[in-house]
Amino acid sequence: MEAAVKEDVMDNEAAEAAIRACVKRFYEIGGADPMLGPVFEKTIAELEPHLEIVANFWSHALLGTTRYQGTPFGVHVNLPIEVEHFGRWLSLFKKAAAETMPEALATAAIARADHMTQCFQSGLFPFKDAEGRPSKVPA
Ligand code: HEM
Repeated sequence: MEAAVKEDVMDNEAAEAAIRACVKRFYEIGGADPMLGPVFEKTIAELEPHLEIVANFWSHALLGTTRYQGTPFGVHVNLPIEVEHFGRWLSLFKKAAAETMPEALATAAIARADHMTQCFQSGLFPFKDAEGRPSKVPA
């Protein structure tokens, strides 16, 4: 599927440009968002290097390049993230991807983002609180 995205729809350079545009757009919208903006503001020391890391991640995830070799989950463990942030993160990502990427690439990116959002959420909030909501600690 990833190879098909790359070969059938566009060359690598165009795909890399679309990924950079998507990451830039996501952080534009996210920075202005009342829920995510303060988290980004507090925790991202320098935006440009961060955008590059995240673009490298997507290049690795969607095109199979090796520029990103990190472990994204671990980076999120100590961030001030609440369970409500995930739905917002995903909906802003979908918007950014739809605006900036050709359809096949956007579809692949959104599927990966959807899956990772679920994995991050269940990894960071593995328990349920008294009301049955995901929680960092047991009830
Ligand atoms: C609640 C939702 C999320 C929030 C608020 C959030 C916020 C952040 C912040 C603030 C950083 C920078 C951390 C630092 O430099 O110390 C970061 C890094 C990153 N995030 Fe997220 N994130 C969220 C979900 C996701 C998801 C679902 C993905 C995967 C598609 C993702 C991918 C990444 C990547 C690749 C990095 C860079 C990791 C590295 O430095 O190696 N994030 N995120």
